[in-house]
Amino acid sequence: MSENPSILQNLRIPVIGAPLFIISNPKLVIEQCKAGIVGSMPALNARPGSLLDEWLAEITEELAAYNAKNPDCPAAPFAINQIVHKSNKRLEHDMELCEKYKVPIIITSLGAREEVYDHAHSYGGIVLHDIINNTFAHKAIDKGADGLIAVSAGAGGHAGVKSPFALVQEIRQWFDGPLALSGSIATGSSVLAAQAMGADYAYIGSPFIATHEARASEEYKQSIVDSTSDDIVYSNLFTGVHGNYLKPSIQAAGLDPDNLPESDPSKMNFGGEDAKPWKDIWGSGQGIGAVQDITSTADYVDKIYNEYSEARNNLISGSAVR
Ligand SMILES: Cc1cc2nc3c(=O)[nH]c(=O)nc-3n(C[C@H](O)[C@H](O)[C@H](O)COP(=O)(O)O)c2cc1C
Repeated sequence: MSENPSILQNLRIPVIGAPLFIISNPKLVIEQCKAGIVGSMPALNARPGSLLDEWLAEITEELAAYNAKNPDCPAAPFAINQIVHKSNKRLEHDMELCEKYKVPIIITSLGAREEVYDHAHSYGGIVLHDIINNTFAHKAIDKGADGLIAVSAGAGGHAGVKSPFALVQEIRQWFDGPLALSGSIATGSSVLAAQAMGADYAYIGSPFIATHEARASEEYKQSIVDSTSDDIVYSNLFTGVHGNYLKPSIQAAGLDPDNLPESDPSKMNFGGEDAKPWKDIWGSGQGIGAVQDITSTADYVDKIYNEYSEARNNLISGSAVR
């Protein structure tokens, strides 16, 4: 395990709540942080851009008030996700707001840009960059990212195709900084497994869709509860980049999830202007078989905290090796 920036120490459990397009919102972020894990949301969820100012004020004020009341058990830090793709015309505007509120952690996706890293560092923030292979990991660190998020096969949203073992093994050969792992992690024992593999944090997205705070329809939340990995399809049809989606939502849109055409790469859509594909076609990783009901964020984090503690104890007391 690596030496991590102080901002990423003292979490209740080594988990980062992953940013979810449309779904994450200040209420979810605040509850994740109060529960002791890093909370996050994409800047682009605040529409129009001016709403981001209000949302960042809400998050920082509410967490400061919570910390004043709970000095012995303060909230975890929060993160804002920036889509660093040329289609995101708000990037500079949104980074200025991150500077205004001194957002402690910036998560960058879909491109590694030095000026974004420099901007975050200029006010004392750190940057975690998400990658799907070792080549992109090298690029991000060479350009100045502080840490990496390895997005392996089975993750929700724009997932990669690599085994989590392959990704972590390759990255740990040369990088000993902060490393989060994502892809189907939904239980406390899986969080421990991510650490055992060499990651510092588990990066969990899809299970938070089935929380009361998530900005998703009841049908979407219930579909997360009812579905398993058999109900997930990997396709590039909807945004131009391969991602994992719930089959029932594809069927509801009148398409055959088992016979989807390939996308037209000139029509990439990461939600910058047009959020429609993400509203109608529901993103989800393969790990949702472990999600049994719709709960509060606090209850879900309590559950994985208990599972994590139990798994750690079991590992120590019941080792199968001599
Ligand atoms: C519905 C949905 C929307 C997502 N939106 C974003 C996003 O806007 N930005 C981003 O960096 N990742 C996004 N992701 C990916 C997650 O941040 C994270 O990598 C992924 O959920 C982890 O895998 P898991 O869902 O199996 O836990 C999204 C994932 C889902 C399921």
